Amino acid sequence: MESLPPEREIRCDAGDQSSEGQPRKPEALNAKSESGQDDRAMCSSLDIYTDHFALSERPFSLLPDPDFLYWSASHQRAYTMLEYGILTRAPITVITGEVGTGKTTLLHHLLKSVSDDVTVGLIANAHGDRGELLRWVLMALNQPAPAEMNYVDLFSAFQSFLIEEYARGHRVILIFDEAQNLSAESLEELRMFTNINSNKDELLQLVLVGQPELRDIIHRPEMRQFAQRVASSFHLTVMGAKTVGKYISHRLYVAGAERNLFSTTAMKLIHDATGGVPRLVNQLCDLSMVYAFTRGNQSITRHTVQQVLDDGSFFASSFDEGGNSP
Ligand SMILES: Nc1ncnc2c1ncn2[C@@H]1O[C@H](COP(=O)(O)OP(=O)(O)OP(=O)(O)O)[C@@H](O)[C@H]1O
Ligand SMILES: [Mg+2]
Repeated sequence: MESLPPEREIRCDAGDQSSEGQPRKPEALNAKSESGQDDRAMCSSLDIYTDHFALSERPFSLLPDPDFLYWSASHQRAYTMLEYGILTRAPITVITGEVGTGKTTLLHHLLKSVSDDVTVGLIANAHGDRGELLRWVLMALNQPAPAEMNYVDLFSAFQSFLIEEYARGHRVILIFDEAQNLSAESLEELRMFTNINSNKDELLQLVLVGQPELRDIIHRPEMRQFAQRVASSFHLTVMGAKTVGKYISHRLYVAGAERNLFSTTAMKLIHDATGGVPRLVNQLCDLSMVYAFTRGNQSITRHTVQQVLDDGSFFASSFDEGGNSP
């Protein structure tokens, strides 16, 4: 993946002190900094700064948009394991990672690239009792699952569907995002589904993606049988300082920037304040760009980022580092 060339000249911090022209005053901006400056941190229009920075779109949206994917070493490895699991017909593939590290983004990329002979059901946030899970599954596969169908009916419909797909040369893959919300009982029920077979061929593959709690559940002694069917797995980690810099450059590049708008020291502070969690990096970068915009600055310096942090505008920084970040 191509990154931006090294940053060209970055204007000095003095620019952040509003010396570069008058700060603009969008109506919705009214936050005050400790210094008493009339700083503006929030905007009513989402695209308010794209023209100012000559961008085609906002570079740091919070959506899991695969078009912005930066292939860090960790994201590459996680994706390889996803692909490996699918290609080798692993009964169960598990990808875990901290909150906001890019799991759903990888899944969206995967969905864009699955071949025609694969039928995929994506279940974004399944929960509920026995029977409920099967209903979610059938709905994800575009199969009817009316309330009057009991568990036996649902199971029979599911089994028939798998056999039909197999007969027409299709593999069926069920992908569960936010799988940490599934109970141990539900996971066990899913494991049983992977036993459905036709002669020697198993008819269903599972991909489970979720936060670290998912790993904890699977490691419980009573989940041994489930764990043994996990043939491919990976844990996605947060980004290091260098990677955060490349990540920021990459997202800017995709959004149409011709140079890196963030100074090296700004990116270092962003890494330190976010712990390298992509979603938090996006939030802090977005806020920093709004701050720079309101001052009429073309670059984001360490001072800009520090002001966002000092003003308390970066919500995540008010959480402790014990994994409670939103
Ligand atoms: N490798 C990456 N390249 C570009 N953007 C990324 C990458 N990883 C994460 N992001 C961005 O970070 C944000 C959070 O990503 P995503 O929603 O995929 O995380 P998640 O791990 O699924 O979070 P959660 O644990 O809350 O489900 C999104 O805006 C996404 O675009
Ligand atoms: Mg997610």
